[in-house]
Amino acid sequence: MDDITKLMTDQLKDAYSAEKQALRAMQKMTKAASNEKLKQGIQMHMEQTEGQIERLEQALDQLGGKPGRKVCEAMRGLVEEATHEMSEHEKGTMMDVVLIAAAQRIEHYEIAAYGTMATLAKSAGHAQLGELLGKTLDEEKRMDIELSRIAETEVNSAWIKEVRAESGEQTGSANENKGGGSRKKAS
Ligand SMILES: [Fe+2]
Repeated sequence: MDDITKLMTDQLKDAYSAEKQALRAMQKMTKAASNEKLKQGIQMHMEQTEGQIERLEQALDQLGGKPGRKVCEAMRGLVEEATHEMSEHEKGTMMDVVLIAAAQRIEHYEIAAYGTMATLAKSAGHAQLGELLGKTLDEEKRMDIELSRIAETEVNSAWIKEVRAESGEQTGSANENKGGGSRKKAS
């Protein structure tokens, strides 16, 4: 195995681990989501991710490699942060905003990984492999756009409205205990 194939194989193994971790994280996210479109969007992407994992297996096979035990530390960090953020909130509008923030961070990481891998594959003359990775890259980009759309049209406004309504009430009743509608879990 030459250095080019070795590096590409390593990156594919890393992506394989990343997708497996992302899949588990999305499972938790769908349970935590309240907004129906957000829930459906994540569920749809979970199905896509299963296909993406198969593509990575195919890609590794083409290069004569196997998934192996490599752990993607970057995704581990992203998932750890997402899990921590999620544990700080109750289900509700703010949780949905937090879920989108975490999900988009994950998608952006994946976009970076697949963009680089697809380009390297093409540069090395693996046109078919480049195309295969390009398909996943497109799905990740579309998911990112979809998350922005859900944030813009549903989730952000619902939460901001709720926070402002609550703070308005508090100002009106001269309540000193300002929660700000954040629905933060009491520690
Ligand atoms: Fe993704």
